[in-house]
Amino acid sequence: MKLELETDRLYLRPFIKEDAPYLFELNNDEEVMRYTGDVPFKDLEAAQEFAIDYNTNKNSQYQLYHMGRIAVIRKSDDAFLGWSGLKYHKSADFVDIGYRFMRKYWGHGYATESGIEVVRHGFEDHQLDILVAQVHELNYSSQKVARRLGMSLEHRFYWEEREPGRHYQINKNHYFNTVKK
Ligand SMILES: CC(C)(COP(=O)(O)OP(=O)(O)OC[C@H]1O[C@@H](n2cnc3c(N)ncnc32)[C@H](O)[C@@H]1OP(=O)(O)O)[C@@H](O)C(=O)NCCC(=O)NCCS
Repeated sequence: MKLELETDRLYLRPFIKEDAPYLFELNNDEEVMRYTGDVPFKDLEAAQEFAIDYNTNKNSQYQLYHMGRIAVIRKSDDAFLGWSGLKYHKSADFVDIGYRFMRKYWGHGYATESGIEVVRHGFEDHQLDILVAQVHELNYSSQKVARRLGMSLEHRFYWEEREPGRHYQINKNHYFNTVKK
């Protein structure tokens, strides 16, 4: 299965090593990272290793499940906007959608536009039954995106018994009968 998706304004494609400066910048922005639980890359080389490994490691999401976070590129000027995409969480046995965009590109509808295509990819290409989004309780813009994708709040939980989170999900019936129509 090819991990290349397209919307009106965007291309979505696997990471390449040339994405490294943008991935580095993205994860170096405290405001972007605030509610993600993720950490910045040590340096540019680490970002490059991440991009290569994410693609080629035999245990990567791409290789194992033909899914994963993928770069979101603006068609009009080839700008790297951020990433979106699916991820299979083996321990919890669910697939989630994630999205992270450079701050300068917030507020243009890119997360929602790419997310709509990723949800389609999940239900139509991967034939998922359920798709999840786990969002920090205070991450209101991400909650808005989840709702715009047709997801509903299922329950609240704590990450590592510390940070409050919201578990959103959408099932295939809701997708095919309501969202897609
Ligand atoms: C979460 C995140 C991706 C949301 O980005 P975003 O740009 O706010 O989300 P959208 O793409 O849906 O854009 C929606 C906004 O664009 C506006 N917009 C402008 N032009 C638009 C267009 N052509 N089409 C649609 N919306 C448009 C909408 O009105 C909306 O504004 P609002 O939020 O004030 O109502 C972003 O905040 C982010 O990267 N955060 C850091 C990482 C993160 O927390 N990820 C989620 C972890 S769970």
